[in-house]
Amino acid sequence: MSQTLLTNATLACIDGTAGYGLRENAALLVDAGRIAWIGSTRDCPVSAATASSSAVAAAGDVEVYDCGGKLVTPGLIDCHTHLVYGGDRADEFEMRLEGASYAEIAEGGGGIVSTVNATRAASVEQLFEQTLPRVLQLMSEGLTTVEIKSGYGLDSEHEMKMLRVAAMIESELGLRVVKTFLGAHALPSEYAGRSDAYIDQVCNEMLPAAHAAGLVDAVDVFIESIAFSVEQGERVFAVAQELGLPVKAHVEQLSDLGGAVMAAQHGALSVDHIEYLQAKDVGHLADNHCVAVLLPGAFYVLREQQLPPLAALREHNVAIALASDSNPGSSPLHSLLLTMNMACTLFRMTPAEALRGITLNGARALGLEQQIGSLEPGKLADLVVWDVDRPAMLSYRIGMNPCVAVMQAGSWRQTVQGVST
Ligand code: NIG
Ligand code: FE
Repeated sequence: MSQTLLTNATLACIDGTAGYGLRENAALLVDAGRIAWIGSTRDCPVSAATASSSAVAAAGDVEVYDCGGKLVTPGLIDCHTHLVYGGDRADEFEMRLEGASYAEIAEGGGGIVSTVNATRAASVEQLFEQTLPRVLQLMSEGLTTVEIKSGYGLDSEHEMKMLRVAAMIESELGLRVVKTFLGAHALPSEYAGRSDAYIDQVCNEMLPAAHAAGLVDAVDVFIESIAFSVEQGERVFAVAQELGLPVKAHVEQLSDLGGAVMAAQHGALSVDHIEYLQAKDVGHLADNHCVAVLLPGAFYVLREQQLPPLAALREHNVAIALASDSNPGSSPLHSLLLTMNMACTLFRMTPAEALRGITLNGARALGLEQQIGSLEPGKLADLVVWDVDRPAMLSYRIGMNPCVAVMQAGSWRQTVQGVST
């Protein structure tokens, strides 16, 4: 089928207008993988559409899908994940319940470094097998684009292995995957006490090699007392920018080191976590069109108390994205619906902000807002049909998945009753 027409939909377009960009009784025409037209069902350009009594009918060359009033949103975007890793850290979960902090566990040789050992030990095939159920779980809730970071290899061979697994996820599952190099995630034990030497290695060897292999879409750094300094992050950014790669950063998660301001001033696509970012510094994000990526899963798991500066972000009109931060330590979270609920409950975001956070603003955090993230003519037809009548239902319920169908670049991903995919 070259064209698909959705009729009788409640569209949450998440377009330039405030709120959801809601359109009731709407129709949407998909042509050659892109959204070609949006209007009211009454005016839809395919006459047979309204004549259809079954959910799906063929009208000439056009597949017609009657949404029966269901909600249709843009495909969901998870713009910050660490989905590829070996092993798990359930033992640290138990240690934290007995009083150990995330930073203490990291300093004691656990944390990220323990996942590094398990990731280095796994083959590409084993890593792919372990990653698959995590990704499928996210996909069951309408995920169409995911960012996946390296950062548990911490040498050229194993960082590239992780990025190859991310590329396999894209080719095997037909999901859009953005591959982010995060060599400066933690100091590997072989460089203990020599963090500048490790950053030299990241800048001179690891990043250029991964880039030359075509495995890098963006570059991230973790700026924190348990990771790297602002100056070290700046050195990695300089190399990324020489290679023409966009940058982003984990900053102000556990303390305020000034990483967010530095990243924004380097034109970073996003600064992520930012609980400790001070309201007085938020203007730098606005001035540089830098997206604030909030990660309520890590906030929840680590039982953080410091809230991100939401009022200042709103006041400065900073685009706020949300992501799962799915990783084995601080956020073993595999649900964007739960991420939305947590953002509303823990951060007091509105359901409209939450939905924008995992669609249009997630796209912005990846530099893909011209292609995806909203329902607008010209964009790729990534969309989700939900068995709910209004968008707040997506943030409100906990543990309920109303996803009915997912379209990725114009093709139905899962079988829709009566439609062969
Ligand atoms: O985003 N903050 C640094 N990195 C991850 C945690 C990774 C881990 O604990 O394995 C995060 O929270
Ligand atoms: Fe992270």
